[in-house]
Amino acid sequence: MVESAQPPSLDALTIGRGAPLEELVDRAALGELVASFYELFRVPLRIFNAEGRILADASHPEPLYVYLDSLRRARRVLAEEISAVKSVDPGVGGDAIYPSVTGSAYRIVSIAYDGRQLGRMIFGPFLPLAIRELPETLLALDPDLDVGEVRILLAKMPRARQETVGQIANHLLRTLDLILFSGHKALLTSKMHLASIRESYRELEVKSQRLQEAYDRLKELDRLKSNFLATVSHELRTPLTSIIGYGEMLSEGIAGELTTDQADFVATIREKGEQLLGLIKGLLDLSKLESGTMRVSRELVDMATVIADVQLTLAPTARKKGVTFEATVPAGRYFVWGDGERLRQVFLNLAENAIKFTPAAGTVTVSASDGTLDAGDGDDSGHVLFTGVRPAVEVRVTDTGIGIPESERLRVFDTFYQIDSSSTREQGGTGLGLSIVKKLVEGHAGRIWIEGNDPSGAVFAVLLPTQQGRAG
Ligand SMILES: Nc1ncnc2c1ncn2[C@@H]1O[C@H](COP(=O)(O)OP(=O)(O)OP(=O)(O)O)[C@@H](O)[C@H]1O
Ligand SMILES: [Mg+2]
Repeated sequence: MVESAQPPSLDALTIGRGAPLEELVDRAALGELVASFYELFRVPLRIFNAEGRILADASHPEPLYVYLDSLRRARRVLAEEISAVKSVDPGVGGDAIYPSVTGSAYRIVSIAYDGRQLGRMIFGPFLPLAIRELPETLLALDPDLDVGEVRILLAKMPRARQETVGQIANHLLRTLDLILFSGHKALLTSKMHLASIRESYRELEVKSQRLQEAYDRLKELDRLKSNFLATVSHELRTPLTSIIGYGEMLSEGIAGELTTDQADFVATIREKGEQLLGLIKGLLDLSKLESGTMRVSRELVDMATVIADVQLTLAPTARKKGVTFEATVPAGRYFVWGDGERLRQVFLNLAENAIKFTPAAGTVTVSASDGTLDAGDGDDSGHVLFTGVRPAVEVRVTDTGIGIPESERLRVFDTFYQIDSSSTREQGGTGLGLSIVKKLVEGHAGRIWIEGNDPSGAVFAVLLPTQQGRAG
């Protein structure tokens, strides 16, 4: 079953909720923005996300702080101070000042969007302009402090009025606001896009599931039809064989001598019975081919033997009709790996048709020549693993009969299809022959098609993959 995934609610789509600062702004762009503010105002600046992770840093080690860091006690105090600064919460949209023991200050400004705290900017340390003297807290910082050195270093600290820093912060916030707005928009768009893709994917899944179900039902129906066909044909064959058998016994006079009329009638019963038997056998073959239960043997078959056999079988029919039947397939040249009896059936059907649809004084020819099959030809059951082309034999059954119009050349292979002209109707038959032929050819990984003959008639061309001869 398809998982019935609910499309995301609009509520879940109204982001901001949950999206952290680093998802809304590009880290590199933020870094550049912060660096350019530092270039302009020379006030150290860092940006942290809501969890306190640093996202951008524009500050250089201040010489004063580097010096103090080299003193044991001062270092400890300053480390505590830094973590204290980092944990100052200015409140959503708020602003806080943290005085350093050195007399300089930090300014912590909230980065908020849509009433939500996304992170903080921390300015500093910078020296408010007001300070002139060394602060007491600085002097008391470490017993080893060198006051002269500290005085020089303090003078090098960046200086800025709190008011100015406030303005810088506002300016930066406004810029950030713009970036956050477009970040939100981009995120929302991409989430909507994702949601709509997910929704179409879900629809597609449902549809393909339905299609699969319909396909399975049709396959089952097809199987039932084939089964039905097989059963009915089989059940018809048994009594029919008896009818023909008893007909034979009657003709042989086992039940007493027959009058000429009686003998004629019995002969007709037998002839029609044989015809019906042929039809039933055809139906059985078809159902077996369709259900894939036809048993085929695999052996090396010489095409010349197959064609010679067909010629022998049909010679009387051809003679009776006044049609010349020629076969020019060289012996020992074309070997096909397949079922000799089924291949005989293929060419028997084709030659039978050729003779049937060729008027007296016409000619039917069966010839063979070298051919090739593309790897893509034939069955697609993975039978053909070879790439490129493979050697084949092209057997052509050519007649000089009524021919097949171009528009009918694909349809004649359909089950029960006959070209509906009076001449076809006269010839009898059921329209099963070619559909069986096509399935058998394809079962041998071959191809069959129809061409026209000049000036009239049809050509049935059959390509079958060949194997090396017996010697090879
Ligand atoms: N050599 C041919 N020349 C002209 N038409 C042909 C030829 N072979 C086949 N056809 C046409 O194709 C139709 C289908 O042929 P197919 O062999 O399937 O059936 P059939 O010969 O009518 O009956 P069956 O073979 O079942 O006894 C034929 O009825 C005929 O119209
Ligand atoms: Mg036929």
